[in-house]
Amino acid sequence: MEKIVICGKKPLYGTIDIAGMKNAALPILFATVLVGGKFYIENLPDVSDINLTLDILKRLGATCVHNGDATEIDTTEIDPYAELPLDVVKKMRASYYLVGAQLGRYGKAHVGYPGGCDFGTRPIDQHLKCFRTLGADADVNGGYIEAYAKEGLYGNHIFFDVVSVGATVNAILAATRAEGSTIIENAAREPHIVALASFLNMCGAHITGAGTDTIKIRGEKDLHGCSYDIIPDMIEAGTYMVAAAAAGGRVMIRNIIPKHMESVTAKLVEMGVTVNIGDDYAEIVRDPAQPLSRIMVKAVPYPGFPTDMQPQICALTCQAEGTSYVSEGVWDNRFRYVEELMRMGAHILVEGKTAIVEGGAPMKGTQVSAVDLRGGAAVIIAALAAEGITVIDNIVLIERGYDDIVGKLSAVGADIRKVSFPD
Ligand code: EPZ
Repeated sequence: MEKIVICGKKPLYGTIDIAGMKNAALPILFATVLVGGKFYIENLPDVSDINLTLDILKRLGATCVHNGDATEIDTTEIDPYAELPLDVVKKMRASYYLVGAQLGRYGKAHVGYPGGCDFGTRPIDQHLKCFRTLGADADVNGGYIEAYAKEGLYGNHIFFDVVSVGATVNAILAATRAEGSTIIENAAREPHIVALASFLNMCGAHITGAGTDTIKIRGEKDLHGCSYDIIPDMIEAGTYMVAAAAAGGRVMIRNIIPKHMESVTAKLVEMGVTVNIGDDYAEIVRDPAQPLSRIMVKAVPYPGFPTDMQPQICALTCQAEGTSYVSEGVWDNRFRYVEELMRMGAHILVEGKTAIVEGGAPMKGTQVSAVDLRGGAAVIIAALAAEGITVIDNIVLIERGYDDIVGKLSAVGADIRKVSFPD
C-alpha cells in the first residue's frame, strides 16, 4: 500500500504550475459521447478520475490516444450501451454524465448508479427531474439509472429546486441535441459549467447564459468534433495557495485564472497572508513566524467560497489566533476529515454544519487517513505545518483529483514522499 510521508515545518519556495481542471474535463469528456466526432483535448490532468473516464470511453468503443500534451478522442463510431461493470462506474460521481450524453444522442440511457466522495446522502432527484422535463421516462432500477425518450427529447423550461453542478451538466447534455429550445433556471454558475458550454458551442451547439443562473439552449442535431484546451483547476490552485500559506515561504502559483480564485484570495488576505496577483499567477508570501488572523467562512456555490476548498481552509485556520468558524453550505456531511486533524492535535468542535476551530493548538505528525479527495488535501496542508512526521494512508482518494501533488510540493521544498508499505 502506498502512503504519503511528510516531515513538516519546511517553508516552501519556488513555482507550481497548475494542471487542467478535473471537474471541467469530466463533463467535456462525456460530452464527446453526446457529440460524436473527433476531438483534440489539451491540458487534461493526469489524475485517476480522468484516466478512469478515458477507460470508460474506450470500453464504449472510442479511441483515446495521448499525443504530447493533447489527447485525441474519436467517438464517431461507438457502442453506447457496451456493458460497463458497476464497480467501474461506482469509482466516481461523474460517470452519471453518461446518462445525459447517451440520452441526448440516442434517446435512451442505461448507466450504473455512480459513487464518489462520501458526504452523506447524494440525491439525483434533480437529474431525473430534468430528463423527465425534456420528455424522457427516467428512474433508478436495480442499480442502474435508466432513461428513455420514446418520442425523442423536446426543449422545455427546467427549474432546479437546488443549485446542482451535476444536474446542470446533465440538463445541458440532454438539451443540446433536443428538438426546440430549453431554459434552465437556478443553474449552477461554476466555471466548469461555462467551460462545458463553450466546448459544446465549439462543436456547433447554441448555448447562452452559462455562468449566470439562467442558461438557454437552442437544440441542434448537427454537431461536430473540435479542439479544446481545458481551463486551469481552481481547486488545485486554491489548495497550493493554502498550502503555501500554511508552510510559509514564497510560492508562485502559475497558470491560473485569477477571477476564479477571488473568494479564496479574499480569505487568505483576511488571514494576513500576502497574495500578489498577476495576469495568470498568484504569488503567496508568508513568514512562517507571522501570526494568522481568525476568520469566518461559509462554503456556498460559485462565486462564493467553494465547498471543495472548505477542508483545506479549515486546516489553515488551525494555525490562526483565536476561534474560526468554518461552515458548510452545500453538503450534509463534509467534516469527516476533522477527526484526522484532531489526531494531529487540532482543537475543533463540529456543531451541525459548522466547524469551530480553536486555532493555535500545537499540531504534531502522526498516522492519518485521507477520508476523501479534499479531506486528503487538508491533512497534507496540516502536515506541512506540523512538527514531526505525518504518514497519510488511503492516498488513492487524493490521486483522484491532484496531478502529481507529491512532485509539485517537493519541487518547492516540502519534505514529502510517496512510500510503499507492505499491506
Ligand atoms: C460537483 O459535485 C463536484 N463534483 C464536487 O466536487 C463539488 O463538491 C460539488 O459539485 C459542489 O460544488 C464534480 O464536479 C465531479 P451538486 P455534484 O450536484 O455535481 C444537492 C471534488 O472534490 N443535490 O452540485 O455531485 C446535493 O445533495 C468534488 O472535486 C440534490 O439535492 O454536486 C448537494 O447538497 C467532490 N439533488 C447540492 O445539491 C440532486 O439531484 C450540490 O450538489 C443533485 C444535488
